Amino acid sequence: MPITENTADSRPEGFRPRILAFCCNWCSYAGADLAGTNRLDYPADVKIIRVPCSCRVNPVFVLRAFQRGADGVILCGCHPGDCHYTSGNYFTRRRMTLLFSMLDFLGIEKERTRVEWVSAAEGAKFAATMNDFVKTVSSLGKNRRLEDLRCRKE
Ligand code: FES
Repeated sequence: MPITENTADSRPEGFRPRILAFCCNWCSYAGADLAGTNRLDYPADVKIIRVPCSCRVNPVFVLRAFQRGADGVILCGCHPGDCHYTSGNYFTRRRMTLLFSMLDFLGIEKERTRVEWVSAAEGAKFAATMNDFVKTVSSLGKNRRLEDLRCRKE
């Protein structure tokens, strides 16, 4: 797996980041749906994957996303205490804290990963979160850490 530095050169003009958003079925996905129903804008660079619960996201999924060229990964779930499966998001919070600090150690900036709680009634929060995340990741440029060059399409 080739490892290269993230440099200013990795930010070409008109750079559009690849963002992967894991959204739990019961809250965040419904929040994304509400954002769409209310015609709230968020960038099309965000690709949503619906999961039954945020705790369904195995840390390997996040590593695999970066390996396959994602520039940022965000996990969205129900607010603590509101998980449809009672305690799934508590596992997510613990797991992702460990994973994100390990990724930081490997050179993937902390700003490229995020966990956010978005309820089904928070369409505006979902759109604002995605806009902010895309802006942050855009300012960091292309992620070249962990990227498997065999997966690159360009
Ligand atoms: S069902 Fe939403 S975080 Fe568990």
